[in-house]
This record gives sequence, C-alpha cells and structure tokens, in this order.
Amino acid sequence: MAKAKTIHTCTECGGQTLKWQGQCPHCTAWNTLVETIAEKSSGSRYQSVAEASKLQKLADVEAREEPRRPTGIDELDRVLGGGLVTGAVVLIGGDPGIGKSTLLLQALAILGASCNAIYVSGEESAQQIALRARRLAVDASALNLLAEIQLEKVLSVLTAQKPDVAVIDSIQTVYSEALQSAPGSVAQVRECAAQLTRFAKSSGTSLLLVGHVTKEGALAGPRVLEHMVDAVLYFEGDTHSSFRLVRAVKNRFGAVNELGVFAMTERGLRGISNPSALFLSHHETQVAGSCVMVTQEGSRPLLVEVQALVDEAHAPNPRRLSVGLEPNRLAMLLAVLHRHAGIAAFDQDVFVNAVGGVKIDEPAADLPVLLAIVSSLRNRPLPEKLVAFGEIGLAGEVRPVQRGQERLREAAKLGFKLAIIPKANAPRTAIEGIEVVSVERVEEAVARVR
Ligand code: TYD
Ligand code: MG
Repeated sequence: MAKAKTIHTCTECGGQTLKWQGQCPHCTAWNTLVETIAEKSSGSRYQSVAEASKLQKLADVEAREEPRRPTGIDELDRVLGGGLVTGAVVLIGGDPGIGKSTLLLQALAILGASCNAIYVSGEESAQQIALRARRLAVDASALNLLAEIQLEKVLSVLTAQKPDVAVIDSIQTVYSEALQSAPGSVAQVRECAAQLTRFAKSSGTSLLLVGHVTKEGALAGPRVLEHMVDAVLYFEGDTHSSFRLVRAVKNRFGAVNELGVFAMTERGLRGISNPSALFLSHHETQVAGSCVMVTQEGSRPLLVEVQALVDEAHAPNPRRLSVGLEPNRLAMLLAVLHRHAGIAAFDQDVFVNAVGGVKIDEPAADLPVLLAIVSSLRNRPLPEKLVAFGEIGLAGEVRPVQRGQERLREAAKLGFKLAIIPKANAPRTAIEGIEVVSVERVEEAVARVR
C-alpha cells in the first residue's frame, strides 16, 4: 500500500506546513503542529456521512426516538441514558487499572448473547481476555475477539462482520499505516478516532472507545476526541477503595452528570443501586472539621462527607489544598469567610477533602465546606446528625440549589436530624424527622453552629 502524503496542521488555527516546526508560522502558537494526512484534491476525506442534505422545515423532520440497546448492566445503562444508541460512539476514560476493560467485557458478554458483538483488544492478548472472562465467571462464549492494533485491519474486519456493538480497547494503541507518528500520539489518536467514528455512523454499529487518562486527569490525546464522539464517560474513584463511579460528562442521547456506582469485587464490577450512604465515614463521636453534604448526582441525591483541616502555617505562603473539590472555590470561600463573617484564615494552611474519592463540582458544596472549615478552625465539632448544602456568593449570600426538597428527603431517610440550607430552598411543609434551618447569609450559617 502506498504511503499517504502527510502534512502538519496547527491545532489552533488549522494552518498547514509541509515540515514540522516548533512554532506555527500562521498564528505563532508553539507546539501546535501535528501530523495529519494530506487532503486529496477530490475532498472525499471530509465528505459528510449523512446523505446529501436538502433544506427542510423542522416540523417536517420525523422526530423518532433512537432505538436503544440496553447493555444489561443497570448502572451503565443509567449513565448512558437507557442503553447504547445505534451508531453512537461512546468514549470511556479513566486511570489505568480502574476497571474499564472489566466493565466492557462484562457488558459485551451479556450483549454478545443477543447480538453480534466484537471486542477489539490492543492491550491484552486473547488468552488474557479469556482468563479474565473466566475470573469474572461470565459466559462470553458468543463474544467475538480480535487482537489487533492496526486500524486498517480492524476496520476491514468490522466492515465485513457488521457488528451491532464493538469495543476498541484502547484508542491509544490503535495506529494507522497512513501516518508515520507513533501509536498514542495526538495525530494517530485523532485520525483513528475519526475513521472509527465515520465507520460507526455509516454502519450503525454502536462503538465503545476506551481512552487513557494522563496524570493531569485529562484524556490523553487531543481534546478534539471529546467533540467527535456522542458521549464521554469517565471512571472516577480511588483505586485504593473498592468503589468506582462512572460519570457522563457529555451525552448527546441522555442526561449529563448522571452517575453510575459500582463496587469492584473478585467477580468484577457490581452495580450499587442505592449508593446514597456510600461516602459517609462513620465516626463514633462527631469530630471537628467534618460536615456531611447532600449532592445531587444526575437523578439521585448522594450524601458525601467533606472534611477540612485548618492548621497554623509555618511558611510565608499558607497552603490551600483540595481533593475532590474545586480548588479555586476554596480560595473564594476563605475570602468570603473573612470579609463577611470576620473569620480570618490567612495565616493558616487549609486542606479540604471529599471522602471516598468522589469528585464534587457543583456549587452546593460551598456551605458544607465553609462549615467544616469553621469547625476545624475552632476545633469544635458541628452538631450531630447535621447535613448542609448551598451555594455561596461573593457578597456573602447563600444561594439556592436545584432540587432542595429531594436532598432533604434523602437526608431525613438516612437519619439526619438537622439541615442548614439556603432560605429559598426551605420546604413549605415540614419534612418528617428533620429540623430545617434556612439561612440567607454566611454569617447566619456560621452563627448557627457556634
Ligand atoms: P482493568 O479493567 O484491567 O482496568 P483498565 O482496563 O481500566 O486499565 O481493571 C483491572 C483491575 O481490577 C485490577 O487492578 C484488578 C481488578 N480486578 C478485580 O478486583 N476483580 C476482578 O474480577 C477483575 C477482573 C479485576
Ligand atoms: Mg484495560
């Protein structure tokens, strides 16, 4: 096969050069030129996968529900929005060893029994996969296996087999002959993903791509991968604990931020359908610097303990560290605490942590984090059986969050007795078993836990 001509394209401005250079000559950005296949003059490479488009009224377009194929794993289906959509491409990212291959093998073993499923593995040999299937005790006898990393060969098998579902494990190991760069490089990942996506759209195969995550937590390879695919799922969780969370950060066919919760057992990943109490650490007696919050993950409320440690700083620049919570918001909260509640922490190191390796990015964590900080600073535990949620604004106001009632009801169900929440979230009728304290301002909230 003749080598296709390659060219270097800038990821910022799209400018092209024949040779690689450190700086793009068009937009002067550094290190943005990546190798791509030179476009043929016919332009067929970028032909749309849809049929030739004609102008039409939106009302004339038949809006039918995409047919979904449930994977048979309830928690995965929940994240996907009900199942795999025909022709959809789903990217699954996560740290190495977190359970991506395990989950997909479990799903494909179930799917393989009712439809044509292919597992393409570039990371493990067929024997290793067979061994894992045996450990998982799944019946994968009907599953088709392909140990191959060359894109052209993978595509020819897929084209011949026309599977209903295919897994590529992983996109970083696949390489195309047409490019000279090494497998896993930005150019290879992008080109392979683009070709596979085109195949999925034209054939109707549901495609699951596994992607590795770099140390910084971003998907290795270009961000453009996230734009190309229909859904992006991330594995979260502490590899030291047995809980794994699968979060949808993008989903064209379902709700985003839906969360699937699993436990890693010796028989693979097991779904947890009622995870609300999973992220509470059970203290014998109440300790200082700990506050339980109710976060809303997709359609389910989840109770998470946030911890803070405030300690005298011995360096000129006090440390601010947050695990599982937004670091910038921590700095903001400390400023609000000083300005509006008169509590200074500029000479203190502040550490905050969300228990269980869960990542919370909703602003409802503001109030609980603030209360935990105050509790640690005063070295006095918060009231027993307390939950809190609420967003804090720069003016010191406590803003409402979505679905306050649902959060309160879940907390009451788990035996919490007291809730400090934003005024606008206060329920009109009392919720049985829980006393609700609604506050408008930060200083009020701080005064309530004295
Ligand atoms: P794996 O799915 O190979 O991770 P990834 O594909 O994301 O890199 O997960 C492997 C880890 O899971 C490994 O550390 C062992 C553990 N594991 C179990 O605890 N139980 C099991 O049944 C299996 C198959 C793996
Ligand atoms: Mg793997």
